[in-house]
Amino acid sequence: MNELKNAARLMAQASQVAVLTGAGISAESGIPTFRGLGGLWNGRDPMSLATPQAFAANPELVWEFYNWRRELVTRAEPNPGHRALTKFASNLTSLTLVTQNVDRLHQRAGSRDVLELHGNLFDVRCTGCAQTFDSVGKTLAPLPHCEACGQLLRPGVVWFGETLPPDVWEAAETAVRHTRLLLVVGTSAVVYPAAGLVATAQGAGSTVIEINLEPTPISDEVDLVLQGKAAEILPLLADLL
Ligand code: OAD
Repeated sequence: MNELKNAARLMAQASQVAVLTGAGISAESGIPTFRGLGGLWNGRDPMSLATPQAFAANPELVWEFYNWRRELVTRAEPNPGHRALTKFASNLTSLTLVTQNVDRLHQRAGSRDVLELHGNLFDVRCTGCAQTFDSVGKTLAPLPHCEACGQLLRPGVVWFGETLPPDVWEAAETAVRHTRLLLVVGTSAVVYPAAGLVATAQGAGSTVIEINLEPTPISDEVDLVLQGKAAEILPLLADLL
C-alpha cells in the first residue's frame, strides 16, 4: 500500500505522464500474452506467423492465426485496468498512452489518441495499393482480397523485421521525452524499439514506474516496481490520484 501511495504521489507531482502498455494489461480480459507458459508464442513459432516472409510463404496460415486473434479480441471486453487509465487522464495535466497491443481494448475502454506502436488487428492493408480498410465487425474471408484493386490484404500489424509506423513512433518518442514520468504496464520489455522508450525516458530525466506480475529486465533499473495484476493495481492507483 505504501508503494502504491508513493506511486500516486510521484504521478501527481509529475503531472505530465506517459504510459507504455503491453500484453499483460489485457490478460484479465482473457487475451493471452505472448511469452511464457500459455503465451501465444509458446508452442508456436513467431517466425512462421508474424513475419513478411511467413506471409509470402503461407498467407492462409498467417490469416488463420490473425482471424482467430481478431475473433478472440472481438469477444473480449476491456477490464478495470484499461478503464482506470481513462480516469488518470482527468487527474493529470497530460497523459499519453502508448501501446504495443493490437487489440484495441484501450480505445474500447474510452482512451483517445492511443499511439499503437504495432498497429492493430482491425485495420487491414492491401499488399498491392496499400489502402487500409476498417474491418471492425466484419468476418474476413480465409484469404481476403482488396475491394479496390483485387490484391491480397494483410493484417495491419507490425511484423518482426518491419519498421514501426514512423509517425506513431515519432509521436511516442517525443511524448516520452517531454513527459516527466513513464508508467510501464504489463510488458516483458524485451521487444525493441518499444522497450527502448524506457531508456529514452530515463535519459530525459523522467521517473519510471513498472507494473508487472513478474520481474522483467527493466525492474532493477526503474524507480519503483508495483508487482501484481494491472487490472487490480491500476484502479487502486486511479483512486489515489
Ligand atoms: P509479453 O508476453 O512479452 O509480456 C507480457 C508481460 O506481462 C510479462 O512481463 C508478464 O509478466 C506480464 N503480465 C502478465 N499478466 C499480467 C497481469 N495480469 N498484470 C500485469 N502484468 C502481467 O508481451 P509484450 O511485452 O506486450 O509484438 O510483448 C511485446 C511484443 O512482443 C508484442 O507487442 C508482440 C510480441 O511479439 C509483435 O507482434 C510485433
